This record gives sequence, C-alpha cells and structure tokens, in this order.
Amino acid sequence: MRKGEKIFFASLAALAVVLVAYKGWIVASDTEEDPGIPFYTTADLSVQKQASQLIRDLKCRECHTLWGTRDMTASVPSPPLDGLGSLRTEDWFFDYFSAENPQEILPSRLKLKYRMPSYSHLDEVDIKILASYMASLKVEDWYLEEVKKKEYEKLTGKTYKPSDN
Ligand code: HEC
Repeated sequence: MRKGEKIFFASLAALAVVLVAYKGWIVASDTEEDPGIPFYTTADLSVQKQASQLIRDLKCRECHTLWGTRDMTASVPSPPLDGLGSLRTEDWFFDYFSAENPQEILPSRLKLKYRMPSYSHLDEVDIKILASYMASLKVEDWYLEEVKKKEYEKLTGKTYKPSDN
C-alpha cells in the first residue's frame, strides 16, 4: 500500500468507529427503561374466571375496553374498564350494576342505545362477582392520572384538566 492509501483506509476505519459509537449512544439515550403494563387485578383466580365468563356472556366488550381489548366493531365512547378499581369502591360498583337506572348514579351524555344498560335483573351473586372483580382492577400510581383523564373525557366529552377533579 502506498502511504496515501494507508492514510485513507485508516481514516475510513476511524470514521466507522465514530459512527458505530454515535449510533450506540443514540440507541442508548433513546431507550428509557420500559415501565411495563400499569394494569393488574387483585382478585383471586376463581373470581377472575367467573367474572370473565359473565363479561363474555353479557358482552361488556361491545362497549368497553378491558385488558386493552374490545370488540372490533365497537364504537361506543364509553370509559375503558382497566384501572377503574383504583377510582371507585366495590360498593359503588355493586350499587351501579344493581340500579334500575344507572344514569341516576352516573349521568350519560349518549343516546339511549349506547348508554350503560341496567343489570338489575341479574342474580345478586353475579352482581357481587362483577362488583368484586371491577374493584380489583387496579392501576399503578404512575398511570393513575391517565386513567382519570380517559374516564373523565369519555364520560363528559370535555378535555380533562387535573384541577377539575
Ligand atoms: C351498550 C353499551 C354498554 C354495555 C353493553 C356495557 N356498558 Fe358499561 N357503560 C357504558 C357507557 C356508555 C358508560 C358511561 C355511562 C353512560 O353513558 O351511561 C358505562 C359505564 C360503566 C361503568 C362506570 C364507569 C366509570 O366511569 O366509573 C362501569 C363500571 C361499567 N360500565 C361496566 C360495565 C360492565 C361490567 C358491563 C357488562 C356487564 C358493561 N359495562 C356493559 C356502556 C355499556
């Protein structure tokens, strides 16, 4: 190799090292630690199974997202159920599901056919399972504000400002 060529290849190698290091730095500074999924349930397995069956039979996912999923065709702007157990108590859910008119407890801004239906016709045991399961659907503190925001915006159709609640 001539001297000129040596210098040329040496500079090329140096440039490659710099580029690789720079790329590594970008990637490293881009990946903040993934905080993971914020939702979890505190219900025991038997409640989880019974509630999941009820939720399937009663087609709650036609209107609500739960564990991040809902029916593909669903377009009702209702609050996701994930994390609601951090906002409300089991008694509240029990009263809400037992109510002849749930809108007396939680007013609706939607047309009648999209509103939360009454489940007062269900057996009390089933309402208890649903209420207990709903109350078990918790959210990690770092995502709590996001759950409040989604709930507020779905219920009211207004933009959430933390000072409102
Ligand atoms: C026809 C659509 C529809 C179905 C089916 C439905 N919901 Fe709802 N649900 C709503 C809507 C809409 C709201 C918000 C209040 C309203 O507009 O009536 C709501 C509100 C709620 C709330 C209160 C949310 C909050 O912000 O605290 C809970 C809990 C709930 N639903 C659970 C259920 C469960 C459990 C089922 C199945 C047993 C179910 N829903 C079935 C439409 C539905």
